[in-house]
Amino acid sequence: MLWIKNAHLLDPVNRISGRGSLLVRGGRIVKVVVGEELTAAAVLALLGCSDLAEVSVVDGAGKYLFPGLIDAHVHLREPGQEEKEEIKSGARAAARGGFTSILAMANTRPVIDTRALVEYVRLQGERAGKARVYPVAAVTKGLAGQELTEMVDLKAGGAVAFSDDGKGIQSAEVMRLALEYAKLTGCPVISHCEDENLAGAGVIRKGETSARLGLRGIPASAESVMVARDALLAKETGGRLHLAHISTKESVRVIRAAKEAGIDLTAEVNPHHLIFADEDVPLTGTSYKVNPPLPSREDQAALLEGLLDGTIDLLATDHAPHTWEEKAKPFAEAPFGINGLETALAAVWQELVAKGKLKPERLIELWAVNPARRFGLPGGTLAEGALADLVLFDPEWREVVTAETRESKSHNTPFLGKELQGFPVMVWVGGKLVVKDRKVLP
Ligand code: DOR
Ligand code: ZN
Repeated sequence: MLWIKNAHLLDPVNRISGRGSLLVRGGRIVKVVVGEELTAAAVLALLGCSDLAEVSVVDGAGKYLFPGLIDAHVHLREPGQEEKEEIKSGARAAARGGFTSILAMANTRPVIDTRALVEYVRLQGERAGKARVYPVAAVTKGLAGQELTEMVDLKAGGAVAFSDDGKGIQSAEVMRLALEYAKLTGCPVISHCEDENLAGAGVIRKGETSARLGLRGIPASAESVMVARDALLAKETGGRLHLAHISTKESVRVIRAAKEAGIDLTAEVNPHHLIFADEDVPLTGTSYKVNPPLPSREDQAALLEGLLDGTIDLLATDHAPHTWEEKAKPFAEAPFGINGLETALAAVWQELVAKGKLKPERLIELWAVNPARRFGLPGGTLAEGALADLVLFDPEWREVVTAETRESKSHNTPFLGKELQGFPVMVWVGGKLVVKDRKVLP
């Protein structure tokens, strides 16, 4: 049993915001009290217990207590590339970053396109026990973009969504069929919007910076034309569409118009697209190389506006671990991807929340409430009776990001060696303590 007291409780759905106590029993939230101090006698009565020695008491003074964050876009590299990340290391990194649930993308080796592999990811996540790991299964076999997977069977194995993320589905006909068939499962199709003809061999956003650095550019249209295509296909089929890592102002405009037209679509933005722009990329800075590439400042402003006005529904990390060896290659050859789980919340807090650009309540909506709703997951709430997936967050905690203190097996982040402020200090999954004093428990 657990009594967290004196923390600032935050839950936008249940309109909870204020100092109070939260009680946990049997892995679930049993009571939330805001605005008054509970006595030990009251706590014992509410927990139905006679001895305070049986209750862990946590003083959350000066900290926020909010629902565990849910990250809808994570690349764990197991099976196949365990040198970059394993399901266990990824789940530990998630917990350390404040995520109690993650969606694991299908672009592993082999690709997660059979029920056995979906079950493997799910079971390895359960064994790791640090965060809930929900498999995303491939839309097409081998991510080849041609033949659909057995979606109903994959869903029965535990898949919560379908995606070829890492690759855009080039054939509009295949995407149309995917949205149509996914309706049988009730699961969204997550689209990595990238037109390969337009993207070509580009490695950075096409513009002044790509010209200055002498690197091949990816035009913004490589993303936005596919956003428009997929929105229209979602309209025609009535399928459920989720757009991954939106990074251009045109995409935001199309999504806004699609929502006004009543199309069933949601969209996410990654923290790195909100914090860094193409002009920040150093020629040797392969830790900034990501797909879609870092946007212009103008795009960035549109992304933030979309987050605030409800056009964009979620934040997600797109945690993409890669080894030093690969990221040490020249910019044009290094793989795309930024390692995000352990720094994303701190970075967004420091750069947006602490600067007054994003309210803490909206952050919780974007990173816990809305992902739970869109993917039909438990969590994202401090409601009584809900799972006790919780984060105690210290807005004052400062920490230099170092390889030694991290849980991820890879360190490809622009924040390496830099200080960030605002970190989760304690994390619980189903009432079980998984992070204490910033350390993931064994
Ligand atoms: O930068 C990226 N890295 N974007 C993707 O879409 C895939 C990901 C990866 O798997 O490394
Ligand atoms: Zn992607």
